[in-house]
Amino acid sequence: MRIGVLTGGGDAPGLNAALRAVTKSLIRQCGAEVLGFEDGYLGMLERRVRALDWRAVSGIAALGGTLLGTTNKVTPTHYQGRDRCDEVVAYARELGLDGVVAMGGDGTMAIAAALMGHGLPMVGVPKTIDNDIARVERSFGFDTAVARVAEAVDRLQTTGQSHGRVMILETMGRNAGWIALEGGLAGSVDVILLPEIDYDLDAVAAVCREREAKQRFTMICIAEGAKPRGGSLTVREHVGDALESARLGGVGFALQAQLQPLLKSEVRATVLGHVQRGGLPTAADRVLATLYGNAAADLVRTGGWGQMVTYEGGAIGSAPLADVGGVQRTVPRDHPLLACARRTGVSFGEAAGG
Ligand code: F6P
Repeated sequence: MRIGVLTGGGDAPGLNAALRAVTKSLIRQCGAEVLGFEDGYLGMLERRVRALDWRAVSGIAALGGTLLGTTNKVTPTHYQGRDRCDEVVAYARELGLDGVVAMGGDGTMAIAAALMGHGLPMVGVPKTIDNDIARVERSFGFDTAVARVAEAVDRLQTTGQSHGRVMILETMGRNAGWIALEGGLAGSVDVILLPEIDYDLDAVAAVCREREAKQRFTMICIAEGAKPRGGSLTVREHVGDALESARLGGVGFALQAQLQPLLKSEVRATVLGHVQRGGLPTAADRVLATLYGNAAADLVRTGGWGQMVTYEGGAIGSAPLADVGGVQRTVPRDHPLLACARRTGVSFGEAAGG
């Protein structure tokens, strides 16, 4: 048996642990030969592949990034003006591959489903720091990102406290606010603003004013995809060649500008950015990635082609790629963490009475 492996989309801490697990498990359970495509689907298009043997993936579980490289700018369904899926499938056949394991987010899964439709057997491994893949309660990379956010909040708090300021921390999370929610909760912030709940500026200012009078400082955690009621997303730039052309960023500074005239204390914003994605994965992410990599090898061994590894109710399972590709798991308004946060005094920037 010969299996291809690739990592697609933005990187996430834990990808190397997942690559290690899937490769070792395929070698040990299936006696497979494993080939790794470089830079995700771009490697399939540009015919860049390398052998992954036991040694190549040994000692990498603790490393950040991805051994194989990745890109979030390329899809074989539309590359240099046309659909290249048939070419990619022909290349995989030329390599003698029985199938390909693709690790990535909802975009990578949608492409995997398309390639499956063109006759290439595919298995998916969910990965994203955003924790927004359908049928996956916890994706690896998320725990590391949340830990970075919590640490940043801790650091911002001591300086905010000293100066009596309103400190805003902007996190990643385009469509789903899981990182801001759990990072903000872990850091005990006062206001958490999510893409799922448009914020009311007066409600946010009211929290800050109340704290100005008592505690003197306020901590706010805002996801990059959050927006005010009736407002729009804060787009940093448009990148022509990316799959998601609008690059978000700067909503923290926008909120700073909106809040400042309404408050006595100074308002300061910090954008955390790629620090959330880089560096060593936490132990929990390494374990999760190992579990998912091993589950993908199991799907290959049992002929579970066309499936993505899922994680629901603490149990590993699988779901058709076609069902999860392109679907985003956002924060539901009735999620227990929201209720828990509200009870402990957190505001989600909602106007009183709605
Ligand atoms: O998909 C993960 C993610 O971290 C998003 O939250 C964020 O908008 C995006 O990646 C940033 O990607 P890039 O590295 O291309 O700026």
